[in-house]
Amino acid sequence: MPENRSFSFRFGGRASAVVIAAGFDPAYLRNLVGTSASLVVSDPNTLAYARSIAAAVGAAEPFVLAGGEAAKGWQAAEAVIGAARGAGLSRDGWFIGVGGGVVTDLTAFAASVYMRGARLALYPTTLLAMADAAVGGKTGFDLFGLKNLVGTFRPADAVFMAGTALAGLPVCEWLSGFAEVVKTAVIGDGGLLGLIEAQAGTLAAGPANPECAALVPELVARCVAVKGRIVEADPEETGTERALLNLGHTYGHALEAVAGLGVVAHGAAVAWGMARACALGRGLGLTPADRADRIVRLLGRYGYAVGPVHPALSAAPADAAGRLLAAMQGDKKRQDGRLRFVVPTADGAELCRAEDDRILKTLVERRP
Ligand SMILES: NC(=O)c1ccc[n+]([C@@H]2O[C@H](COP(=O)([O-])OP(=O)(O)OC[C@H]3O[C@@H](n4cnc5c(N)ncnc54)[C@H](O)[C@@H]3O)[C@@H](O)[C@H]2O)c1
Repeated sequence: MPENRSFSFRFGGRASAVVIAAGFDPAYLRNLVGTSASLVVSDPNTLAYARSIAAAVGAAEPFVLAGGEAAKGWQAAEAVIGAARGAGLSRDGWFIGVGGGVVTDLTAFAASVYMRGARLALYPTTLLAMADAAVGGKTGFDLFGLKNLVGTFRPADAVFMAGTALAGLPVCEWLSGFAEVVKTAVIGDGGLLGLIEAQAGTLAAGPANPECAALVPELVARCVAVKGRIVEADPEETGTERALLNLGHTYGHALEAVAGLGVVAHGAAVAWGMARACALGRGLGLTPADRADRIVRLLGRYGYAVGPVHPALSAAPADAAGRLLAAMQGDKKRQDGRLRFVVPTADGAELCRAEDDRILKTLVERRP
């Protein structure tokens, strides 16, 4: 079996260990939790895995959340806290979240406020949660129809990622997470960008394909390294570094809102947003043409829509541009009357501001 890869981050005042392994390792968790009480949280699709983790630490049957973004609300957070109380957790007890970003965000939130802060271990089971959500300390849930309106910063004490946990992940979920892998490569790892270009045929197949599965530890380790480096520099997003992780997200969130929540998968929306950010960066003279072409071509190879008018909005393309701009204006604060974006540069990404007419140009087809 290949060796585990380990990272020790310091996010603000808190240490956070990340272990990336080929398979599940019950001894790691047993040593971590020791004799403390613990609560394992899962969703229906991760229950089998959560049960093996509960057995390893001597915890009761996992607490099962309904699953999916619709379940990421206040009632679910309250239910997790209630389950911890029922399991007899004190401040030295462990919350153990086993699932995708919904489970890890909610479990981390509950741990961060339970008795003013209990201990937290995460077992991410989607590519998105491994490459992004489970690392870096953002917790939270949706309220009043707004994504992540409530949240805290609370890095996990330990995150354990096993490639085998992804074996049953549907390809659509894999590709949704893969957009964050591309984002990470663009902002911080040229070697990763080269790898996902060279292996596009294999990686687009999803983790049920053994050749793709064999690449998961390398992909995830590189994403964790980049995210960890950025979050160490800016743990609570008070500086500008952490904002780079939003590449593709201003356009992507607007698309998700205009198309209707759930119509375009989050990763597909972010991928389209990265292509639009390339167009914006080119227009502003910040993204070299060859770099923009390279990123857009790569996104196309993974099947993401990259054109100015997303297929979900093609019925009324002229109207779509205005609605997308309005959604961005509702989502983000303006500075000097301009919206803030992240755009790719020659070898990374940077924050910039753009006028409305410049943004609109990236959302309409150019006439030949
Ligand atoms: N905290 C952060 O920094 C951060 C960063 C990015 C995203 N997020 C959050 O992450 C969430 C999205 O995460 P997600 O894409 O993992 O969604 P998710 O948790 O809803 O999981 C997607 C689907 O996959 C299923 N699933 C999970 N693991 C599986 C497995 N191994 N096999 C089969 N099915 C499995 C889930 O049950 C669910 O139906 C959003 O709420 C987003 O806000 C947080």
